[in-house]
Amino acid sequence: MTDADQARENAVEAALGKLDLDTKARLLAGQDMWSLPALPEIGLQSLVMSDGPIGVRGVRWTADDPSIALPSPTALAAAWDPALARRAGRLLAQEARRKGVHVLLAPTVNLHRSPLGGRHFECYSEDPYLTGAIGTGYVNGVQDGGVGTTVKHFVGNDAETERFTVDSVIAPRPLRELYLAPFEAIVANAHPWGIMTAYNQVNGTTMTEHRYLVNEVLRGEWGFDGYNVSDWMAARATTGDIEGGLDVAMPGPQTVYGSALAEAVRAGEVPESAVDAAVRNVLRLAARVGVLEGAPAVVAEAPEAIDGQALARELAARGFVLVRNEAALDENPVLPLDAAAGRTVALIGAAARDARVLGGGSATVFPERVVSPLDGLTAALRDRSGVPPTYALGADPSDELTPAGQGFELRAVCRDASGAVLGEGSLPSGQVQWIGEDLPAGAAYETMATIEVTGTFVPRESGEHAFGTRGLGAFTLAVGGETLWHGVQEMGDEADPFEAFFGAPSERARLTLTEGEPVEVSLTYQVPDMTAMPLKAIMFSLLHLGPRRDPEELIAEAVAAARAADTAVVVVATTERVESEGFDRRDLTLPGRQDDLVRAVAAANPNTVVVVNAGSPVELPWREEVAAVLLTWFPGQEGGAALADVLLGDAEPGGRLPTTWPARLADAPVAEVVPTEGRLEYREGLFIGYRAYEAGSITPAFPFGHGLGYTDWAYESLEVTGTTARVRVTNTGSRPGREVVQIYLAPVVTGSDGARSATVERPASWLAAFAGVEAGPGESVETEIALPARAFEIWDEETRGWQRIGGTYEVRASHSHGDTRLSATLDIP
Ligand code: BGC
Repeated sequence: MTDADQARENAVEAALGKLDLDTKARLLAGQDMWSLPALPEIGLQSLVMSDGPIGVRGVRWTADDPSIALPSPTALAAAWDPALARRAGRLLAQEARRKGVHVLLAPTVNLHRSPLGGRHFECYSEDPYLTGAIGTGYVNGVQDGGVGTTVKHFVGNDAETERFTVDSVIAPRPLRELYLAPFEAIVANAHPWGIMTAYNQVNGTTMTEHRYLVNEVLRGEWGFDGYNVSDWMAARATTGDIEGGLDVAMPGPQTVYGSALAEAVRAGEVPESAVDAAVRNVLRLAARVGVLEGAPAVVAEAPEAIDGQALARELAARGFVLVRNEAALDENPVLPLDAAAGRTVALIGAAARDARVLGGGSATVFPERVVSPLDGLTAALRDRSGVPPTYALGADPSDELTPAGQGFELRAVCRDASGAVLGEGSLPSGQVQWIGEDLPAGAAYETMATIEVTGTFVPRESGEHAFGTRGLGAFTLAVGGETLWHGVQEMGDEADPFEAFFGAPSERARLTLTEGEPVEVSLTYQVPDMTAMPLKAIMFSLLHLGPRRDPEELIAEAVAAARAADTAVVVVATTERVESEGFDRRDLTLPGRQDDLVRAVAAANPNTVVVVNAGSPVELPWREEVAAVLLTWFPGQEGGAALADVLLGDAEPGGRLPTTWPARLADAPVAEVVPTEGRLEYREGLFIGYRAYEAGSITPAFPFGHGLGYTDWAYESLEVTGTTARVRVTNTGSRPGREVVQIYLAPVVTGSDGARSATVERPASWLAAFAGVEAGPGESVETEIALPARAFEIWDEETRGWQRIGGTYEVRASHSHGDTRLSATLDIP
């Protein structure tokens, strides 16, 4: 313990000693959606939390308070660079400080067990080691800035279906070796100041009440000394939760802690010492972030400023994964594009113009600006070839209505029963999402009778426009001053509020409008009586869909554009109805006619580059028919600028796959995430991701670790001394680049301890460590990679401990899991 740690502990004990039971119990419950109460009597300010992981939204769910939006966590993991994740974390700390936030509700380190997982985009990888390494970098970065983290969701929240109640049934070895492993690594290497316990159960016990996993494993075995906060509304039992090691129940003000907890102590159901332990953890957090008087903050001064836009752009390019890059017409691979004077590009796809930069749910932030592929390429090509790209829509990924956005200028007007205006706020889109106190100034749940989303719409195209609603309750829709619909939407079968909110849209009216001619729009919502609701929130949307064009005609237009250009770049994407918190995916196909579009364009132009804008794997059945495939994930606000950098060769696509991309869903190791009678059995045991593909001899579309970059690497030598691998590689291409040297271990069952090694069930190979190296053309570099002891161990349930498995191992130095370049053997006693 350092002197500063000691000073913080002293301040914590002194503050704790001054608090009575009621105040202590009150401190453990949210006072609102995002914060804990201040206790001026002990010099404690209110602790404020806010969602990550790609930005810091702040305490308001609105575009009035914009945030830098970094690429999705899948993209960050694809960079395979903990130091880069650390820089991302530092920027997020800066954002948090700017917004008065003390604790970031991130990172999400559940695993990619199935590509169907709705929050797949928000997690890092199918591999626990890579997840732990990226998460460690991220947590270290945020905390370098003096802001706390809550590593989430502890544990077994790897899918969304029935997430509040599902029992994830996980055997001890996969639980330890896969799902707990990233949490353990981050606790050991980054010392997080917080953790968030999940909604679900693990092996029959709700995670907020899981004494074994929280008190014995997390705090006992691993020595975690941070605070443990419930996922939002996950705390459901006063005594069960406090005994299960849950420190804080969020959100408030109605929770199972506060007065209920004080009463439980008075009734003798809970010892006061349990409350004290939780308060100590909260005060320690407050001391660390600098909101407890008399305690030195871990980081007193705000660190040097970081340029968020520049970092967002750099991160995006570093995470782009070039999975295919073939020579088309001439000898050279199609990427980077030849942008010599006069060369032309046809840019195609709905997401090329209306960029999809982030995934749905609590990870949403509102960036100040978004650079679409069309913006990015237009700016870059004007400078370079002098010819901006032509644009064609090609295919609509969705024929569903989406929140009114492009062409709309909207605001929300809150009125009381007499019609008097209480408050007003601007809206980034037709989506109203106010939670807790997050209302326009002057408005209050008690007095608000109606909310009107109102403003103007300037159509981009002439034709029949559809308007609709999403959300529950009574609405009146008017366009051009005329009431088009008035009615009530009742609750359907959705179990998750996110699903009700982001779920099925309802079309209410159609109207013929003219390009460029503005019309007034208005959607009025009757505010229901919310007195009895534990969490006060308003969520509804005004939806819109432009004229539906004949899909064949759209494809034909795109084909004509592709034919007329030297290169065709097609951006394909998922929609907010596909990848979001609150529900899982049903399939991995690209929505709408996007597959047909790609095939048609590729047939018309051999120089076809497909950009895949999806946070998680999608099926790409045409992948061998196109010249290049670039995966850009959800690239964040600067995605289009980074895309131009990469397509034109100003930056290398630096990514390697953090997760295997299956050829089709049926090949994925876990292709079903719907629980049976409330239970989700992790029957595949240790075999998720590449471990399963290898065991089943299934060839994926693209293997784990794959990514081409713009240069080539020769692996010159691999030497293993002790448990250190020394690898020498040469950049044999013509450009500088970065290679991720991946070290896999494969047990050889005939070695010195072959018998033991043969009887233990283990994957055929696994990632043990990795290192990034950079080199210019013709240059060689050597890197030393330590193989962690854990890579040779399994969890032994009999002794409840880690056990090293001796024997001979093949050590592989690989470009990807499917591309081993060199190997050596290693004997482990
Ligand atoms: C999510 C958490 C998030 C919280 C607060 C929950 O629904 O599961 O990841 O931090 O909401 O927005």
